[in-house]
Amino acid sequence: MSSLPDSHHEPHSADPAGFDLDAWLTTAGGLPPVVQAGAGVLRQRAAPVDVALFGSTALHALVEVMVDVMRRAPGVGLAAPQIGVPLRVFVAEDPEERLVQLSDDAKAARRRVALPLLVLVNPTLVPDQGEQVTFFEGCLSVRGYGALVPRWAAVQVTGVDADGRAVSASLQGWPARIMQHEMDHLDGTLYVDRMITRSFTCEAELGRLSARPASDVLRDLALPPLE
Ligand code: CO
Repeated sequence: MSSLPDSHHEPHSADPAGFDLDAWLTTAGGLPPVVQAGAGVLRQRAAPVDVALFGSTALHALVEVMVDVMRRAPGVGLAAPQIGVPLRVFVAEDPEERLVQLSDDAKAARRRVALPLLVLVNPTLVPDQGEQVTFFEGCLSVRGYGALVPRWAAVQVTGVDADGRAVSASLQGWPARIMQHEMDHLDGTLYVDRMITRSFTCEAELGRLSARPASDVLRDLALPPLE
C-alpha cells in the first residue's frame, strides 16, 4: 500500500488454480513491475499456497522478490497479485526510518507506528468491529491517486510464514489499515471499491488534503444542496 510511483511494463495475468510458481520465477527476471489497475490479476481471488510449497526455495524466492519490490517502490505493503502472482501471500513493513519523515500530529492521528517486516502466507483477518477510522490511503497498483477509506481500527491476522510456521498478530492503527488493504488484494478488491468516492484525489493534491482532518475534507467535498 502506498501512493508513490513505480516503473511501468505489461501487466501479467494468470490462472490462480493452475499457477506455476517455478515457471513464473524463471521468467519474471529481476524485479517485476507493479501491476496496475485494469489488469485481470488484480480482480481475481488469489489461490491458497499449497502446503507442498511451504519451506520451498520457490516460496522463499517469491517472498524475497515481493519484499524487494515493496521496498524499492517504496510502499508499506505488497500482495502477490500486484506482481502478477495469483497466490495468497502478502508482505508489509513500515520502518522507523520512514516514520521520522512524518509530523508527530500525522503519526498520532493515524496511530502510525513502526511495523517490522511481516510475511503472511494464506492469511486470515478478523476485524475488531468496534470502531472504524477514515484516512487517505493509496495503492502501488493505482499509481498517482489516493482517497479516504474507512477501515477497522484493529484487526487480528493469522497465517503462516514462508516455512509454514504459524504467524499471528493483533494490530491497531495504521498497521491494521495496511493488513486490510493487502488482504483485499488477495480477494480481488482495490481501495477504490471501498473509498468515499468524492474524496478520490490526484497525487498533486494529496499532501494538502491528507494533512487535514478527514471530517473537514469530507465537509468541504460535499455538494451544497440545490437551491
Ligand atoms: Co494496494
